[in-house]
Amino acid sequence: MRSVVLVFALAWLSLAPARAADAPIVIKFSHVAAPQSHKSRAAEHFKALAERYTNGRVRIELYPNSQLYKDKEELEALQLGAVQMLAPSVSKFGPLGIKAFEAFDLPYMFADYEALEKVTHGDIGRELLGRLEQKGLIGLAYWNNGFKILSANSALRGPDDVLGLKMRIQASKVIEAQMWAMGGLPQVMAFSEAYQALSSGVVDGTENTPANMYTQKMYEVQAHATMTNHGYLGYAVISNHAFWTGLSPDIRKALERAIAETTPVANAFARQENDDALVEMKASGRTTFHEPTEAERAAWVAALVPVHDEMAGRIGRDLIDRIYAVTGRKAPAR
Ligand code: LMR
Repeated sequence: MRSVVLVFALAWLSLAPARAADAPIVIKFSHVAAPQSHKSRAAEHFKALAERYTNGRVRIELYPNSQLYKDKEELEALQLGAVQMLAPSVSKFGPLGIKAFEAFDLPYMFADYEALEKVTHGDIGRELLGRLEQKGLIGLAYWNNGFKILSANSALRGPDDVLGLKMRIQASKVIEAQMWAMGGLPQVMAFSEAYQALSSGVVDGTENTPANMYTQKMYEVQAHATMTNHGYLGYAVISNHAFWTGLSPDIRKALERAIAETTPVANAFARQENDDALVEMKASGRTTFHEPTEAERAAWVAALVPVHDEMAGRIGRDLIDRIYAVTGRKAPAR
């Protein structure tokens, strides 16, 4: 009997290293958006490609909806290695100490997606991702969400209507300055808490993309929205630098191919979902959507664009000027 046990034990031991070597590398991909959101669907697309291109040697586990971590905690978890991938909004990198990403938050910085992609697909975008390395992170791609609109329970015809309203924002000093510029009272709050805060009246309003407003059901608790399209919201797909660079080159290459092939799909999902969300929210009749007149738009622009100069010390004048140059945006009159 003893010899049988010994044989089994030896057999198990001889298999054990092989089993460990065969066990897939698990990548936990955490994010805060809803399971039906475009970010989730992009992550699922990436998972399918990544697992196929690595022949199952990598398993991607998706954790949407802040089910593992909220905004701030997920960045800490990635730095500590508790998760391996995230796709946070670039507006959330300021508190980590990488303030330059807040250039993306400057109001009316990008006229359209074409202007934006001159940055995200070019040298500036690459350089900004490179800055994540100082924080133990690696930037792998940009995925769009879209352009933000303002919402509240009162009509917002112009910046003066924001005066005194408590507005939920992401943790970005530029977005904070933008709310102060209208006389609003910015309240930094995790995405997972925004709906509850709006519905209970802890805050009066917010800004977000139509897709986020819809998938988080914010439109159910916001009577008015104005199509300001005043700023961009988008993501950086990131990993832990030590983890990523520690992967074998063939696995890393396969994963990077999966990310590169997912990016245009993710951006197409986002465009479509923002369009569809507006249609759905309008049809629901819960929120009244206001399209600014030319004069109203000019008033929003006049109130918000001074934030560019105000925040130049924080973001870097050079960076702002380089973005103006590549996008063809005229610098605001000084
Ligand atoms: C927000 O906090 O409003 C967004 O960054 C959430 C997201 O991931 O789209």
